[in-house]
Amino acid sequence: MMPLDTSFLARRQGILHVEDLALPELALMFGTPCHIYSHAALCANLRAFQAALAAHPAGARGLICYAVKVNSNLAILNLFARMGTGFDIVSGGELERVLAAGGDADKVVFSGVGKSHAEIHAALMADILCFNVESAAELERINEIAGTLGKRAPISLRVNPDVDPQTHPYIATGLKIAKFGIPIDAALALYERAARLPHLHVRGVDCHIGSQILNPAPYMEALERLLVLLDALEKRGICVEHLDLGGGLGIAYRQDETAPEISAYLAPLLDRLQGRNLKLILEPGRRLVGQAGLLLARVEYLKPGKARNFAVVDAAMNDLLRPALYGAWHEIVAVEQKTGIPAAIYDVVGPICESGDFLGKERELAIASGDLLAILSTGAYVMAMSSNYNTRPRAMEIMVQGGEAHMIRQREKTADLYALECLPPMRATPAPPAEPTAEMANETDKGIASRKQMC
Ligand code: LLP
Repeated sequence: MMPLDTSFLARRQGILHVEDLALPELALMFGTPCHIYSHAALCANLRAFQAALAAHPAGARGLICYAVKVNSNLAILNLFARMGTGFDIVSGGELERVLAAGGDADKVVFSGVGKSHAEIHAALMADILCFNVESAAELERINEIAGTLGKRAPISLRVNPDVDPQTHPYIATGLKIAKFGIPIDAALALYERAARLPHLHVRGVDCHIGSQILNPAPYMEALERLLVLLDALEKRGICVEHLDLGGGLGIAYRQDETAPEISAYLAPLLDRLQGRNLKLILEPGRRLVGQAGLLLARVEYLKPGKARNFAVVDAAMNDLLRPALYGAWHEIVAVEQKTGIPAAIYDVVGPICESGDFLGKERELAIASGDLLAILSTGAYVMAMSSNYNTRPRAMEIMVQGGEAHMIRQREKTADLYALECLPPMRATPAPPAEPTAEMANETDKGIASRKQMC
């Protein structure tokens, strides 16, 4: 079992380092809050996945398609592309990112329930590996667009096997109440339809049952159901080249939690696929990047109270939404171990005007105002789900490689946040409630005129 992996983190003389760099130095150099990723951890996580796949005869031809939504920074996509991965995308935007990062379109699978006309068109023009089709209506649309382009679209149906992945309900996707995929009992008929459509090429079967899965048993349950479908397809002369089992393998977020080893999840699946001429595609995300990242924040204020002590830090729910959205837990540790400061129990909160703006509750920390905190396991679904709520510029992203730190995304500037906004014409301005003085009116006009010039 895999515990929370902090192998890229080390304390030297009481100070937390990422690879060879001390976090206080990174904070001085780049400011806070910032997302820090370890290059070594990213590489090690991907290599472990690749090795587990390659070690088994049934996985030797397999392909890892990293789920771009998890962390879509170009530097991470570029690193993984150079290490041989393909990509699982869910939007035209993600396709553009993958191509901009140097990814190969012919290793891209396209999932998602709402692919637009423009997105399908772009993916066909790029010649992606496969569309993971999520409805009968989408199948017809892809066929029609491929026809207008004189192409045959490669497709899999994303089959919803109706298994319980035993995870948070917001991220369980393989149950029949979920919006995802085609119910398994309707899949055969739809495959027969797909095989008859002139502009489609049936290439695979796809399934993704959920995320942050810590018990691998539901994968086997899903696979057994898919194998019944595959056999039925073969009987009807529909032979597919690949089986895509999606992503979802979880990580340990708590010190006392463990997640399954990659081999414990993969080996039973590969054993069961032995002897079938199928290329296995996997779409991991969190497992590759989650524990390779941390969020570095500084304590602005300590606010002791009778009911609660608060540590108000400069990162907030706009930087890390998972605790507010899923009640998720991220370990929070003081960057410098200080003696002489008494430990206390704090709710670690941000400056945003919502009670849901917390990064962690009831954490024992020995800290003073101005200290740095590291919020762990933030490589997955953190920067990707960040926002500008409360007009907060998004944090910088840094990749550490040995003794070097590379900025891989600049800190946003406040002016960036309203750069796309425009004022409507003056005539739409409602009359002010009271007569302003001549001086006030003059000032307001000047402000609006200068703003209009900017748009
Ligand atoms: N493939 C498909 C079709 C997916 O929808 C997802 C994730 C993945 C692969 C990658 O799953 P992973 O290996 O990362 O579990 N925001 C949530 C997680 C949402 C999962 C969305 N789909 C969180 O912060 O926990």
